[in-house]
Amino acid sequence: MKISFDKPGVPATGVAVVFATSGGKLSSTAEKLDKKTSGAIKRAIKSGDFNGDAEQLLNILAPVGTRLDAILVVGLGKPGDIRELGAQKAGGQIYAATARAQKGSATVAVDEIEGSSVVASEMAAQMGFGALLRSYRFDKYRTKEKPTAKPKLKAISFMVPEGAAARKQFGKLSKVADGVFLTRDLVSEPANVIYPETLAKQAKSLEKVGVKVEVLGVAQMKRLGMGALLGVGQGSVNEPRLVVMQWNGAPASRGQGGKGKKKEAPIAFVGKGVTFDTGGISIKPAANMEDMKWDMGGAGVVIGLMRALAGRKAKVNAVGIVGLVENMPSGSAQRPGDIVTSMSGQTIEVLNTDAEGRLVLADALWYCKDRFKPKFMIDLATLTGAIIVSLADQYAGLFSNDDKLCEQLTKSGEVVNEKVWRMPLGDAYDKMINSDAADMKNIGNRGGGSITAAQFLQRFVDKTPWAHLDIAGVTWSKADAPTVPKGGTAFGVRLLDRLVADYYEKK
Ligand code: BES
Ligand code: MN
Ligand code: ZN
Repeated sequence: MKISFDKPGVPATGVAVVFATSGGKLSSTAEKLDKKTSGAIKRAIKSGDFNGDAEQLLNILAPVGTRLDAILVVGLGKPGDIRELGAQKAGGQIYAATARAQKGSATVAVDEIEGSSVVASEMAAQMGFGALLRSYRFDKYRTKEKPTAKPKLKAISFMVPEGAAARKQFGKLSKVADGVFLTRDLVSEPANVIYPETLAKQAKSLEKVGVKVEVLGVAQMKRLGMGALLGVGQGSVNEPRLVVMQWNGAPASRGQGGKGKKKEAPIAFVGKGVTFDTGGISIKPAANMEDMKWDMGGAGVVIGLMRALAGRKAKVNAVGIVGLVENMPSGSAQRPGDIVTSMSGQTIEVLNTDAEGRLVLADALWYCKDRFKPKFMIDLATLTGAIIVSLADQYAGLFSNDDKLCEQLTKSGEVVNEKVWRMPLGDAYDKMINSDAADMKNIGNRGGGSITAAQFLQRFVDKTPWAHLDIAGVTWSKADAPTVPKGGTAFGVRLLDRLVADYYEKK
């Protein structure tokens, strides 16, 4: 999709997109087009139930008095209520409504809206971002799809005052979209294409945007004592990997006592990268097992986030670590009852080989805090089915030992519409994973499955401020939303990019 920002004007050909606010008040360009069409827009409003509320659309085809193919009027709601998210959603709707336009392009006239705190240039940039996000499609394996079935729209032009400002803001947002698209690609790929080695290769490709990438293999992980992660991977012919990505964008600050420049401590993101989760010997039922190709969703988000941060040259030092394994049953697979020793030295009784994500994260988290001593660690994992029971696809579960981090994540989540809901942690839950045979077991008893999973992770973060996002319910969606087409959502990329931008970047 090509998004451009051009001089204000009245669109003359193709599809013209204009706006209305609640009560059916037309934008200035909409007024002009209404005059040109002898009042077609106002008549269309009178004849239907469109009144300019947010998320409403009115499409007028082949309007007389113009050479236009259509006029699309997009509702923005009450001017005072318009926020960047509303603009993004409108952009997504514009894409969806014009995707089949025969000329392959649409022209959007973005005027200043009286009473709105979002100026036209920002509105246009956010709409462009929303349209771009919605245009994502994973169709590389559909070799027989008829060309007529594919979306035709290739370009959207936004006519807007202060095009340069819009262009600049969109430039940064498009880097975030690059990260989102990378994540969506990675979670959409099947497990015969994306397995630890190939996913590590994808991460390695971030070197081209300035990320430092190291890939650890089995021998190195053995030397580090990562028995928890390695145990999960031992049943697969596709060997595990651990990938360490570093983006150093923070300006070095003066060290104490004038001892030269000192590197700012990084913030860290850790992802569960189970490239396929059969459950292992505790094998899953066949129905919907194909969903487990996106059990690397947490790792996908961390890789996409690093891409976004590097792409927009975020002024922050960030580390991304992903633990990559395939959980398979085989003659070499780990058995229920096996006891493994993690890098931390703590031992784990593996009572269910399907509770594998926490085993992978145990070593990845410990390694992260041990090596980098980060300001905080946030892990993302499609960790439990229980979080879907709790929160469905509306929120990611948030578990944390740090109130400030929770507050920041909650606020950023609201702003980008990737919402998180804090869940409890505590000693009583922690006790539930004590084991008679080892330091802990990898499952709890009955209830609170997402919480006992989080308690398990907490045993591997020490005193580091930490948050765990259980994204099992939000990583894949079965229905289109304004800026998120069905499929891989990349939930977490925009949230964490925003968290960094709002709270952790040097200004
Ligand atoms: N990857 C799954 C969790 C999951 C389930 C993600 C459905 C997305 C959709 C995880 O590894 C798992 O199998 N968890 C088990 C834990 C149980 C064995 C304690 C679960 O949730 O059933
Ligand atoms: Mn599992
Ligand atoms: Zn899993």
